Amino acid sequence: MPVLTGKRDERDRRLNGQNILIKNAHFYDAPYGERKDVAIRDGKIAHVGKAPADFAADTVIDASHKTIMPGFVNCHTHAYMTLFRGYADDLPFHTWLFDRILPIEDSLTGEEAYWGTILAYAEMIRSGTTSMVDMHMFPKTVVRAAKDTGMRTVLTRGITGSDRRDPGAQRRIGEMLAEKEYAEEIGADATFMFGPHAIYTCGEDLLKYIAELSGETGLPVHLHLAETKKEFDDCLAEHGKTTVSYLADTGLLERPILLAHCVYLTDEDIALLARPNVSVATNPASNAKLANGFAPVAKMLKAGVRVCLGTDGASSNNSLNMISEMRLLSLLQKGETKDALALTAPETMKIAVRNGYEAAGLAQRCGRIEEGYEADLILIDEDAPHLLPQFDFRAAFTYAANGSEVTDSIIHGKLIMRDRMLLTIDEERMRSEIAKIIKRF
Ligand code: NI
Repeated sequence: MPVLTGKRDERDRRLNGQNILIKNAHFYDAPYGERKDVAIRDGKIAHVGKAPADFAADTVIDASHKTIMPGFVNCHTHAYMTLFRGYADDLPFHTWLFDRILPIEDSLTGEEAYWGTILAYAEMIRSGTTSMVDMHMFPKTVVRAAKDTGMRTVLTRGITGSDRRDPGAQRRIGEMLAEKEYAEEIGADATFMFGPHAIYTCGEDLLKYIAELSGETGLPVHLHLAETKKEFDDCLAEHGKTTVSYLADTGLLERPILLAHCVYLTDEDIALLARPNVSVATNPASNAKLANGFAPVAKMLKAGVRVCLGTDGASSNNSLNMISEMRLLSLLQKGETKDALALTAPETMKIAVRNGYEAAGLAQRCGRIEEGYEADLILIDEDAPHLLPQFDFRAAFTYAANGSEVTDSIIHGKLIMRDRMLLTIDEERMRSEIAKIIKRF
């Protein structure tokens, strides 16, 4: 389904690959005053510094009032759930999930999920996100949305079930593997993880099976863990172990794994998570809104756990804005620990950017403004009043930015947003499709 705008010249350039020259940009981690060019060819960063005189650019962007940085990686979300934004607010976790969200989710069609995903992409691109880890329930639909918009996605089809013979679990695993083939077929910028939903929706044998499958295929795993006090208490009562040690006994902590939430952790749990193959995606807004508490992020970092950042879905946040999430993360950690150094601006930004690329398995390909890396970059308007005056970009940005200052977005070397205009999403069509879906609710 095409969602491209009618701007044919823009569209042809986008589809055929562009040479883009970004001139005179301030780099986000450099002192003010230092400015460089970035030249992009065939999806990759070809030159950093002064671009060669013979570099033929299709598009030249004057960045003399802009800061350049890698785009944000939203390490835990459910993109299609924008459709439930505002549908179940001010409810405790179990009422929210089991009484409100799951029943309406069951009635959702693939086509509706497609438009919900497009809406999520529009919001995320506008607020500087260029990659996301998306746990979803609509195989082939979400990957089509990624292909149509040029968004970079790490897809994890949600899996639930009792054990490895459970027909529902088998079907979902099959769908995920078929989606992976489909993504290659249509040329989407998508990679994949196994997505067992949680330890309270997947039996022990199924979790062990997924650990085995991950070993056989080399695919990483994405799972919600230790999100609520009830989950922590139930696991202790049922298995005599904390959620983390229970998970360790399934073999999953030996695999490359990305754990969402991790709010309820003992010191022993934190020590178990401090290993290079494990990442924790913290979701401060969702945890606060569903009254689940605050993840011990500062403590995890101190222990050597790789922490990255996610928004979770729009039904529990309700925003998919990584920039406001970053601010909230830093402020909550300082407030919770009563330590102003608990999470500094540079540390917070590292969580939202560098650690995100590593956790999502993308760090070898993108996430650095260096020659040879795929170009996933955003430009920030330095003249935005709330970012003035400029002492240190990372502090100004972490504590005052809100997403509106992101002017341009490039994913895999393709311009996706130019001067805040989305180039791959027809927003008018999107709004009318969303309105139709909401009428049915
Ligand atoms: Ni989630």
